[in-house]
Amino acid sequence: MMGRRDSALMRKDTGQSIRRSRIAAAIAVGIFLGCVFAFFYPDGFFVSTPPIHHSVDISNSEIASSSCKSSERINMLKSEFVAASNKNAELKKQLRELTEKLRLAEQRKDNAQKEVLVLGEQQKAGPFGTVKGVRTNPHVVPDESVNPRLAKILEKVAIKREVIVALANSNVRDMLEVWFTNIKSVGITNYLVVALDDDIANLCHSKDVPVYKRDPDEGIDSIARIGGNHEVSGLKFRVLREFLQLGYSVLLSDVDIVYLQNPFDHLYRDSDVESMTDGHNNMTAYGFNDVFDEPQMGWARYAHTMRIWVYNSGFFYIRPTIPSIELLDRVAGRLSREKAWDQAVFNEELFFPSHPGYDGLHASRRTMDYYLFMNSKVLFKTVRKDSKLSKLKPVIVHINYHPDKFQRMKAVVDYYVNGNQDALKPFPDGSE
Ligand SMILES: *[C@@H]1O[C@H](CO)[C@@H](O)[C@H](O)[C@H]1NC(C)=O
Repeated sequence: MMGRRDSALMRKDTGQSIRRSRIAAAIAVGIFLGCVFAFFYPDGFFVSTPPIHHSVDISNSEIASSSCKSSERINMLKSEFVAASNKNAELKKQLRELTEKLRLAEQRKDNAQKEVLVLGEQQKAGPFGTVKGVRTNPHVVPDESVNPRLAKILEKVAIKREVIVALANSNVRDMLEVWFTNIKSVGITNYLVVALDDDIANLCHSKDVPVYKRDPDEGIDSIARIGGNHEVSGLKFRVLREFLQLGYSVLLSDVDIVYLQNPFDHLYRDSDVESMTDGHNNMTAYGFNDVFDEPQMGWARYAHTMRIWVYNSGFFYIRPTIPSIELLDRVAGRLSREKAWDQAVFNEELFFPSHPGYDGLHASRRTMDYYLFMNSKVLFKTVRKDSKLSKLKPVIVHINYHPDKFQRMKAVVDYYVNGNQDALKPFPDGSE
């Protein structure tokens, strides 16, 4: 469905306002027909249905197509909408979601246009300053046969085909409890724990936490139970692949992370990988020109280098695209062959360009705002001492820079949730 694109989108006689009004018209007609059909078919007439998310995606991407296309689109909106609303109560919820979608239409329209570019015909470059490359690759076609059991779980848990995923075994049980307690209290429901042992599966069941336990006879599963950190890291990328193949965007999350707001309200969704950074200021987080000095070279003593602090492979949003899946395969493949740190491999695959004997990945990437998606160095070295910054509430705090994770997680909750101004004070900037 995502592959159905129309190069007519790029016709230049369609201004933005026409597009906007066509979205609005298409959605309005869709809503109306949805209501009519929901009335006559309260139980729906399709069993499985793609989520609303996609219908709006498609409508945005095709808003400028010819009018015969638009009736097709309305049909699609209609049927998807009807199928999604099995009950009248649910219909209302879907309506609210559609309204929310409309609000995000601007952002998505831009993305969708770029997806069209990927599949569109050759074209001339536009005038100076109007040309933009592609960073939003199209979704893969979902393949449920990859893992029907997981597909069922995700149908229930995901919202707009998005889900937070954490892998956990008994070693991180305490942190996991803080993790899901905060996720719940922020009001997030689309999250899933991949339990790597029975203890974690039982904990999740007892606390009403959505959980997915892999089949014990699955080959990579033995790694999960007996494996150290290194092997489990490799496993993470293999498990993630299935989520992407099923057509879901995943916000992969370590468990040493405190959720203070809903991260899905703060994503751009325009890149294959959108990741939090290990950087601590604009330069280190977003990239800078680092000048290397070699005085004996005289006139040419300065060599310019590109630097950026690594992406944190414990918290990133990954869209279900071919480059994303290639990334996971490349990282998992290398981790199975080399003794390497998964975060280093993740970054090397993301950033190194093609060169003789090597094909670079060329996935698109976006660095998250380091004050919203905050690492624990930023919090303990800078933010807690700054009268302005310390009053802003981040979306998440990742205790990635400190070994006393559990204590610092609880302190972060105490500071941001309970309002205890002294909660962060006992801790040193780094580890002692
Ligand atoms: C860092 O970058 C942001 C925009 O990305 C800008 O608003 C801010 O002023 C910059 N801060 C510094 C210290 O340069």
